[in-house]
Amino acid sequence: MEIIRTISWMKETVRQARAENHVIGFIPTMGALHEGHISLIRRAKADCSRVYASIFLNPAQFGPNEDLSKYPRTFEKDVEQLSAAGVDVLFAPDASEIYPPGFHTYITVEGLSEKLEGKSRPGHFRGVATVVLKLFEIVQPHFAYFGRKDAQQVRILQQMAHDLNLNVEIVVCPIVREPDGLALSSRNTYLSSDERHAATALHRALQEAQRAISTGTLDAFQLQTIVSGLLSNEPLARADYVEIVDAETFEPVARIGARPAYVLLAVCVGKTRLIDNLLIEPASAENSLICSL
Ligand code: PAJ
Repeated sequence: MEIIRTISWMKETVRQARAENHVIGFIPTMGALHEGHISLIRRAKADCSRVYASIFLNPAQFGPNEDLSKYPRTFEKDVEQLSAAGVDVLFAPDASEIYPPGFHTYITVEGLSEKLEGKSRPGHFRGVATVVLKLFEIVQPHFAYFGRKDAQQVRILQQMAHDLNLNVEIVVCPIVREPDGLALSSRNTYLSSDERHAATALHRALQEAQRAISTGTLDAFQLQTIVSGLLSNEPLARADYVEIVDAETFEPVARIGARPAYVLLAVCVGKTRLIDNLLIEPASAENSLICSL
């Protein structure tokens, strides 16, 4: 696996690959890699003849009181994992390469970026959209792979790609979980062993929602009450939000029904903020719903 640090060399590498008619798949990450990230690489390997990943701990998407300084940095181990997974090129620029002095242009996907995660983390999605657009411009992928774990992030990036007529297809991949259901996240390493145990409440609450939906509870307020109730039984967990939203607009829905929807959770376990979601989609058979954890 080649490791590239500069934009100019990355662009040259991409130019050569495109001239050779390679299909390029791209997986942007912030490092501290786990099986969730590697699942995206595997999917890209199945679809594409060249797989490029990036590791860039993007300062623009962290608020002043967030965890940028303590975010886990495991570069050597990340390189081993990416190499073993068959990544062809790792783009790992310094912050000054991406945001040189005099950088002034930011991307805002209006509306979608202001609610839920965007409300709790002002400026977060502006930082995400800006860096991802820059990475797309540099790497010029045919396909880019993102996890459904960050459902609002990938929805915002799809909107950006649509609005700006980007020549990239965004592929959304399933959530990879620990055996006890906790969604893998680089931030799980912050959890003490008690908190790690308490963190299973997110998955348990979503399972409870899934069960309620399968027995005909489709009213959003009722579902919210079930999920919030389960979370409040966990003393180390404090829900930031529990919302049932339309999967396209991310606006709250009153009732689950004809259109895809999410149950979205953001929960603080100790000082660590975790997110998770349940996707609910109408199935082709009349009146039946498919829930994906
Ligand atoms: P990061 O948190 O490193 O995540 C990189 C990708 O891995 C994202 O698409 C995320 O949704 C996916 N991912 C994380 N946990 C996952 C899991 N348990 N199962 C499946 N996929 C998972 O998201 C970012 O970085 C950044 O915001 C980024 C898009 C790189 C822009 O800086």
